[in-house]
Amino acid sequence: MQPQQVRVGILGGSGYGGAELLRRLLQHPLVTLSGVASRQYLGRPLAAAWPHLAGVTEATFADEAEVIGGCEVLFTATPHGSTALLVRQALDAGKRVIDLSADFRLSAEDYARWYGQPHPCPELLSTAVYGLTELHRDEIRMARLVANPGCNATAANLALAPLAAHGLLGEQVLVSIAAAASGAGRSPELGLHYSEVNENVRPYKVAGTHRHIPEVEDTLGRAATMGRRLKTHAPAWRPTITFTPHLIPMTRGILASCAIYPTQDGVTESELLALYGAYYRAEPLILVQDELPQTKAVFGSDRCLITVRRDLRSGWIHSFAVIDNLGKGAAGQAVHNLNVMLGFSETLALLGALWP
Ligand SMILES: NC(=O)c1ccc[n+]([C@@H]2O[C@H](COP(=O)([O-])OP(=O)(O)OC[C@H]3O[C@@H](n4cnc5c(N)ncnc54)[C@H](OP(=O)(O)O)[C@@H]3O)[C@@H](O)[C@H]2O)c1
Repeated sequence: MQPQQVRVGILGGSGYGGAELLRRLLQHPLVTLSGVASRQYLGRPLAAAWPHLAGVTEATFADEAEVIGGCEVLFTATPHGSTALLVRQALDAGKRVIDLSADFRLSAEDYARWYGQPHPCPELLSTAVYGLTELHRDEIRMARLVANPGCNATAANLALAPLAAHGLLGEQVLVSIAAAASGAGRSPELGLHYSEVNENVRPYKVAGTHRHIPEVEDTLGRAATMGRRLKTHAPAWRPTITFTPHLIPMTRGILASCAIYPTQDGVTESELLALYGAYYRAEPLILVQDELPQTKAVFGSDRCLITVRRDLRSGWIHSFAVIDNLGKGAAGQAVHNLNVMLGFSETLALLGALWP
């Protein structure tokens, strides 16, 4: 039987995540874009916010209630804190939701601790599935609410999950992130002006303060204790990671450079590469390669490139992953999740897939 067209809506259509959702969904063969919301651009053409869409679509921005009412599946690309209530409205109206914000990624306790406020809809947290597609596919298929992962967390988790699943993760896990400026969204901010970012590299949110830390610890803990059969919250064990992000003078892209001191001695680099290759063998958007990856190779795409090294001198294992923060780190992963939820061919409308 041929899959049917599905009506899809976007909240936050005037932001970067919204723009990348539009890029993919407008060319998705099984999607009808039923509505796109923005408060700033209400009633104006999509091209008012995104000039590259002039002549491509005549659609105009609508309000949130109209977009929720008209769709079957809703993408929320809106800020954390204000998204949860919009998600509740959509779920109450019987819609399925893919949320790009952080509102449904953590337990209520972790949300309060890391986001500094009580969760607005704790009763919905058990409905949410953490949407790291490659690890949680079976749960995503059935989900009413998918919590799309954070961009830095996606890169770190994909770089480290094979080590976690093979019991190699010990107490020492270091994650260093190089992150491009679009990761902070489109709203103007002093530290993100061109003249502040250009020709500058600086660490930010260091020493255990970055909000993606609990997502990585949860995911690696689940991968370590349960392989790929996962439940959304509260793994039996989770590592404590050291997470150091750096803002780099680029528009898009993330490099996760990770290091662990393994629980077992004697594993060789070629064994590690084979282990990574086997772990991601069936994944159309992940390429395990011998070469060290670079962000330019994934610019504008939905792919993740990964490799691993053994430092024989110190004993540490290093793994590296690159993604585009707005692709695999946001809209690309969200559309991948849509394809999984609806039983479509997984790579429909995605960019740079290795095979269909
Ligand atoms: N940028 C990334 O690399 C990235 C990666 C992964 C996840 N995310 C997450 O995805 C979400 C969107 O990120 P972004 O980078 O697209 O942000 P953005 O560029 O700042 O866009 C945010 C959008 O939300 C709308 N908005 C702002 N306040 C709102 C409110 N109170 N209620 C409803 N809509 C509101 C804005 O449009 P109007 O003001 O016109 O309504 C805008 O379209 C965020 O939660 C972010 O953390 C971002």
